[in-house]
Amino acid sequence: MENFNAPIVAAMKKYSADGVIAFHTPGHKQGRGAHELLRELLTAEGLRQEVSLMEELDDLHAPHSCIMEAQALAAKLWHVDECLFMVNGTTSAVQAMLFGTLKAGDLVMVPRNAHRSVIAGLILSGAVPIFLPVEFNDEFNLPLNVSVETIERAIKKFPQARAVLLVSPNYYGVAADLSTIAKLVHAAGMLLLIDEAHGAHLTFCDELPTSAMEAGADLAAQSTHKILGSLTQSSMIMLKEGFINVERVKRAASLLQTTSPNQLLLASLDIARLQMERDGRKKICAAVELSKALRIEIKNIHGLKVFDFANLDPTKVTVNVQGLGLTGQEAEEILRRELKVQCELSDAANLLFLITFADDFETTSKLIDALKHLPQRPPIKILPPLMSKSISVAKLSPRETFYAPAEVVALNESVGRICAEEITLYPPGIPLIMPGEEISAHVIELIHQSTGRVIGANDSILATIKVINERELPSRRAV
Ligand SMILES: Cc1ncc(COP(=O)(O)O)c(C=O)c1O
Repeated sequence: MENFNAPIVAAMKKYSADGVIAFHTPGHKQGRGAHELLRELLTAEGLRQEVSLMEELDDLHAPHSCIMEAQALAAKLWHVDECLFMVNGTTSAVQAMLFGTLKAGDLVMVPRNAHRSVIAGLILSGAVPIFLPVEFNDEFNLPLNVSVETIERAIKKFPQARAVLLVSPNYYGVAADLSTIAKLVHAAGMLLLIDEAHGAHLTFCDELPTSAMEAGADLAAQSTHKILGSLTQSSMIMLKEGFINVERVKRAASLLQTTSPNQLLLASLDIARLQMERDGRKKICAAVELSKALRIEIKNIHGLKVFDFANLDPTKVTVNVQGLGLTGQEAEEILRRELKVQCELSDAANLLFLITFADDFETTSKLIDALKHLPQRPPIKILPPLMSKSISVAKLSPRETFYAPAEVVALNESVGRICAEEITLYPPGIPLIMPGEEISAHVIELIHQSTGRVIGANDSILATIKVINERELPSRRAV
């Protein structure tokens, strides 16, 4: 056989040939849960069908036939007024939510640990973030969500804000109390936008946290590919008429998407919807049951703890490995290389495993078996998290910061300056300060206390920090 030099293809073949069992995205889990129509598409026949911009295939930017129909079917299934198909992931969906609802100078509340797509959405819209602290679980060393009390405080402090954006559920499956928050936010005349990248399945099982749109959100962005059966990169935006300008959101989504949408991605969204319409309830509730059984088994393994919480999606199985004397990263490496199991993520103390409708007792039994084979090592100390708990508004918008001239100064001389970089202490892995925020004495104190890793900073030992050169700013806007 000819020896082709195609490094990306080679790397893909190597991963699949390694026989690793996937407890990570995409939701179809290496094809195990792929619908027969999706299997048919990824063949020579599918390639024959993968054409671009033919009249019969409709226009993603002005849908009037098959795409319009497919989006309407999805809107009906997810109980929303409209649904937009996105082929550049939830990254562009989140950008479109912000770009399509906010204008320059608008204030928007965002959790301090929002996904990076939020920053791009803020740069595009020119809106100014108010950073909200997230609650934290000390036992597992992981972020929870934004509390109702924090939203109440933030609304009182910034009643002029235009919108609140939350991530719910977060990566670990912890949902915010969206039904209560939706009422508070709407009563204050604000919009509720939800990054629901990890929640496309919530609608299909009553044991899961309430989905964003059912809880009353105005817009939600979902990574269909992460949990359901579509191809990586395919997502949806869910819209509710009333408070948002639907046409503006559609225009924003159109401006942010390619003019050559891939038919396989669009078709895979249609198929994921079909799959859920046919037996979504059965499949998702089965995944929930499987996860519950898995959790009980893992709790019985010596040295392991499983994260549980009131408003938690149980299909996100977070396992704390501290009791084995391992960090999450060490355990991930052993599982991957020696025990052929790959988690979705590891942090200082935990591993996160995703259970989807594509899993069954065979896959979870292999996971349990692998976890039983993790070694026991001498105890280790995980550092306590250092983070900012304040509700604070940025001094400069991300757009202004993006274009502003910057300079490097000594950390100890930076109080009162505007930060030009994102600094994240690990743990907890939540940004301590974002570009555009004023550097406080408290932030510097936290940096000095930190003995963990620093991520994202220009100077990894943080003797210096990048700040905005305000003398060279064209003009200052008062917030
Ligand atoms: C909370 C959150 N929002 C948005 C995204 C972006 O989603 P996508 O990968 O579909 O672009 C991610 C990706 O992991 C995420 O975790």
